[in-house]
Amino acid sequence: MSVHKKTPKRVTTHVLQTMKDNGEKISMLTAYDYSMARILSDAGLDIILVGDSASNVIAGHVTTLPITLDQMIYHASSVVRAVRLTVTGTTRPLVVVDLPFGTYQGNTRKALKSAIRIMKESGAHAVKLEGGAEVKGSISRILKAGVPVMGHLGLIPQSIYKFGTYTVRAKKDEEADRLINDALMLEKIGCFGIVLEKIPAELGKKVAEALRIPVIGIGAGPYVDGQVLVTHDLLGITKDFHPRFLRRYLNLYDDIKGAVSNYIEDVKMKDFPNEKEQY
Ligand code: KIV
Repeated sequence: MSVHKKTPKRVTTHVLQTMKDNGEKISMLTAYDYSMARILSDAGLDIILVGDSASNVIAGHVTTLPITLDQMIYHASSVVRAVRLTVTGTTRPLVVVDLPFGTYQGNTRKALKSAIRIMKESGAHAVKLEGGAEVKGSISRILKAGVPVMGHLGLIPQSIYKFGTYTVRAKKDEEADRLINDALMLEKIGCFGIVLEKIPAELGKKVAEALRIPVIGIGAGPYVDGQVLVTHDLLGITKDFHPRFLRRYLNLYDDIKGAVSNYIEDVKMKDFPNEKEQY
């Protein structure tokens, strides 16, 4: 029996810390709606991330920049309703919500207001912010208000127009040193965990070993304390995204397309509904 089935208790930031201390890997995936969150929660996932990747996979934008705070709150509250209703009758995953672009950068008061809106209006358990030293003030202010914060370093998609590409980050020593310093700073000011995106596996290892708090990777190799993927990628709903770090567990794009084609044919051929499918 897998570890998560033996421990259906509610996942808190303290539980995550204990998991790291005990060498138990942490599982994290994205969800943006009630139905998907219900499945992830019932499967025993540790953390649901209401990611601003909703801007891409749900809204069809090219980047994560356009999604608004109101839209993130809508997604987050749908997810929270599912997490309260697991088959075991207990709340399980921790729900972390991305603060979207433009709601925390360069203005600590605005950052606190944004985080409080997410916590109050969605019922989520924590927020995630992208960046290191440049957003230290915003993160500190949110933490001081008692809101748990997860950091996000490496490839930070909200800054895509600054960097210009989605290539692997921190391959050079200078950028790697900066990332390690940022990670240590995020731990010091009180973040409960950090996401590391698309960096060399050896650097992921170095950061996970240097930090006491959990480090969750996406394209950061196997030595970090847990893994996160975008659920639509893992299930093969998205089709044109093939980074090396992605493992597809299903090919739902083709499965759903096939099912819909069958439905269309049945309707056209007057085969649906049949005698048993009517009143
Ligand atoms: O928005 C998101 O889905 C994320 C993950 C890629 C970590 O931030």
